[in-house]
Amino acid sequence: MEKVREVLSRYGNQKESLIQIMLELQQLSGNNYLPAEWVAAVSEALQMPLSKVYGVITFYAMFNTSPKGKFIVEVCKSGPCHVSGAENVLCMLEEELGIKAGETTCDGIFTLQLSSCFGACDIAPAIKVGESVYGNLTREKLKDIIVSYREGLKYAKC
Ligand code: FES
Repeated sequence: MEKVREVLSRYGNQKESLIQIMLELQQLSGNNYLPAEWVAAVSEALQMPLSKVYGVITFYAMFNTSPKGKFIVEVCKSGPCHVSGAENVLCMLEEELGIKAGETTCDGIFTLQLSSCFGACDIAPAIKVGESVYGNLTREKLKDIIVSYREGLKYAKC
C-alpha cells in the first residue's frame, strides 16, 4: 500500500489525475494490473465512489483488473497491419511464446493480445511491447525481440 500512498501524494489526491494515477500504479504492480485493494484505496483517497473508479478503469482497454505478464505484447490487427501480414505475426508469436492471444506465458513474462492501430502503420505489420513499437516484422526479428526482453529481465535481477 506504500506505493499507492506515494503515487497519490505526488498527485495531491486530485480526482482529475485518476487516469495518470492508475497508469502509474498498474506499472508498479509488476503484473500490469490494478489489484482490487489498490483500486479501493484510490477510491477512498480521491473520495470517488468505487463504482465510478471501476467505470473508468474498465472503460479503457489499457487497464487490467487481473494479473498479466510483465510485458504485454500487442499485435495490431487494424487495416494496414492486417494486409501486411498481422495474422502471420500473430501465428509466429503464438508459436514462439507457446500461448494464444489473450493468454500469459507460464513464467508470467509475456501476455499476448490483439490491438487496434497504435500509429505505426508506416512500418506495418507492427507490434507493441509495453511502450516500445516494432515494425517490418519477420520471424527472426520477433525472436530477437522476445530474447531481448527475456535477457533484459535476467540482467535486471543481477
Ligand atoms: Fe497497425 Fe496502424 S494499422 S499500427
